Amino acid sequence: MKILHPPTVLLALLLAASACSDAAEPEAEAGPPVRPDTLPTEIQAEVESRGSAAADALAQGLVGRLAEAIDEQGTVGAVDFCSAEAMELTRDIAEDHDASLELKRTTTRWRNPDNAPDEAEARVLEYLEALEAREPGSAPAALTAAGPDGSPRFYRALRTAPMCLQCHGAEADLDPEVRRILEARYPEDRAVGYSEGEFRGVIRVSFPADSASP
Ligand code: HEC
Repeated sequence: MKILHPPTVLLALLLAASACSDAAEPEAEAGPPVRPDTLPTEIQAEVESRGSAAADALAQGLVGRLAEAIDEQGTVGAVDFCSAEAMELTRDIAEDHDASLELKRTTTRWRNPDNAPDEAEARVLEYLEALEAREPGSAPAALTAAGPDGSPRFYRALRTAPMCLQCHGAEADLDPEVRRILEARYPEDRAVGYSEGEFRGVIRVSFPADSASP
């Protein structure tokens, strides 16, 4: 009889629970998480340096504006800022930084359905989440992978800082007013229940398809 290692069993349970998959299909035989398609080596370095500069500009821009909004209007007011401006700010920062790149924030546990992942993004998120499920903190901070049509993509992992928990922490810990607004505005909200340092999702940077041919 085969003895299953506890982490393997745990991973299988997590995968089964998150995928709502048929319990009759055992996941325990799955090997290590499969890394999504890599890019041709000639373009790796450029995708990494331009991608991480754009992702950092967005992360810093959003966190800066969010901190300002919380300071000026409190957490409840800052929810309005996020709802009303985060998407537009994401587009603006992308355009200001490098108009040939497209930026998106995406996660399997989205609050705003417009941020749900496409197929290629979902594969990257599943890979990073599988690594996290095996060992929390082990997902790499950055990853390059092929998008649709082989177009290059850069991904920056996002983790929750203490400030994020005001709106993404355990439901019981949220300010009741914040919770009320979130429930009213995002009836299918999946983005609560996080603790500090948890993998929250990614910033995805897309390059034009022709940058795949050196
Ligand atoms: C004041 C409340 C508030 C705080 C604080 C906050 N968020 Fe959010 N977050 C939101 C709202 C509202 C949305 C949905 C609107 C949008 O941004 O598209 C959201 C969306 C997101 C998304 C896009 C994916 C999705 O779920 O739709 C990510 C990623 C994210 N937040 C990460 C973070 C991180 C990381 C922090 C801490 C640095 C943080 N948030 C702090 C309210 C907040």
